[in-house]
Amino acid sequence: MEATYSEQDLTEVSQDLLEQFPDQKIWLFIGEMGAGKTTLIKSICERLGVLDEMSSPTFSIVNQYQTEKQEELYHFDFYRMEDQEEAVNIGIEDYFFSGNRCFIEWPEIITNFLPDKYLEISIKLVDSNTRHLTASMNE
Ligand SMILES: Nc1ncnc2c1ncn2[C@@H]1O[C@H](COP(=O)(O)OP(=O)(O)OP(=O)(O)O)[C@@H](O)[C@H]1O
Ligand SMILES: [Mg+2]
Repeated sequence: MEATYSEQDLTEVSQDLLEQFPDQKIWLFIGEMGAGKTTLIKSICERLGVLDEMSSPTFSIVNQYQTEKQEELYHFDFYRMEDQEEAVNIGIEDYFFSGNRCFIEWPEIITNFLPDKYLEISIKLVDSNTRHLTASMNE
């Protein structure tokens, strides 16, 4: 799937992604700082009915949310992680193989721990209000 979108289109883009990849648990978000990874994740979480107040997990590596259907989901940001041992210490594999959705920013340092199958969403800046994403399965 591909989309060029502004912030007003986020709800629709999120809905399209969830319809296109309904059963996918591991979602990687690739893109430079300010590309709009967190913004898109927040919108997807809203579509999923996340009740919690969302914040960026930059300082905690992982935030856990619950949806109105009582599903858990995890939002990771590995930007500040320095080595893979830290990932092991937070129990990364338990999260990834939990069967719950995992939304992951800056996954480059933890690719070793990923399951074989994951969804990769790559976001590029077109102009200050516009982004272009491509979403494809890796398996
Ligand atoms: N179409 C768009 N989609 C998403 N964000 C947009 C769009 N247009 C403008 N923006 C703005 O771009 C910024 C994106 O910031 P965001 O925190 O989502 O980026 P990020 O990719 O998570 O960065 P970081 O790597 O620092 O975590 C926000 O200020 C948002 O308002
Ligand atoms: Mg972010």
